[in-house]
Amino acid sequence: MFQLSEETAADWWEVEALYDLCFAPGREALSSYRLRDNIPPVPGLSLVARDGDGILAGAIRYWPVRVGGAPALLLGPVAVHPTRQGEGLGALLIKDSLARARAAGWDRVMLVGDAPYYSRFGFSRLEGVEMPPPTNPDRVLGQDLTRGAWRGVRGRVTRWID
Ligand SMILES: CC(C)(COP(=O)(O)OP(=O)(O)OC[C@H]1O[C@@H](n2cnc3c(N)ncnc32)[C@H](O)[C@@H]1OP(=O)(O)O)[C@@H](O)C(=O)NCCC(=O)NCCS
Repeated sequence: MFQLSEETAADWWEVEALYDLCFAPGREALSSYRLRDNIPPVPGLSLVARDGDGILAGAIRYWPVRVGGAPALLLGPVAVHPTRQGEGLGALLIKDSLARARAAGWDRVMLVGDAPYYSRFGFSRLEGVEMPPPTNPDRVLGQDLTRGAWRGVRGRVTRWID
C-alpha cells in the first residue's frame, strides 16, 4: 500500500511541510537542530513513504553526529501524516531505514524521543551521552547496529563537522 524510496532533492520541501504539520511550531528551535544546521542528511537512509496515488504519507531522516568523537547516526525527524498514523507506517520507516543503516556499515544509532515508542525497535536509554541542553536525558536513546558498538562511547553529542 505504501511505497518507500530514498528521499531526493525534489522531496525536500514536501517533507518539511509534513514535519511542520506533525510537530509543534518552533521545532527547529530544538537543540537537536543545531546538530543538523548546514549538514546534509545521510544519503540513502532518509526515506519517504507515498501511497498509491503518490501522496506523501510519512518520512524519516538521519544525520551524522559524533559522540565523544565517535561517529553515530542521529535518527529523526520521523513523522507520519495524522490521517495515516497507527497503521504501522512509522514502524516500517524505522525498521527499513535501520536495516539500510546496518547494511551501509554504520555501527551505532541514537535519537531523542519517547522510550515507550522506540523501545519496540530495540532502543534504550544511553547513559553518559549528552545532547546539547536543554534535553531530558531520559529521552536520549540508542541501539547498537554492530555488537557492542555503544560500549565505552559517551560524552557530548557534537556536530559531524564544525
Ligand atoms: C510517532 C509516529 C512517527 C508513529 O507513526 P505511526 O505510523 O503512527 O506508528 P505505528 O503505526 O508504527 O505505531 C503506532 C503505535 O505507536 C504508538 N505510539 C505512537 N507515538 C507514541 C509515543 N510518542 N509514545 C508511545 N507510543 C506511541 C501508538 O499508540 C500505536 O500503539 P499501538 O501499536 O499499541 O496501537 C507518528 O505518530 C507521528 O508522526 N507523530 C508526530 C510526530 C512525532 O512525534 N514523531 C516522533 C518524534 S520523537
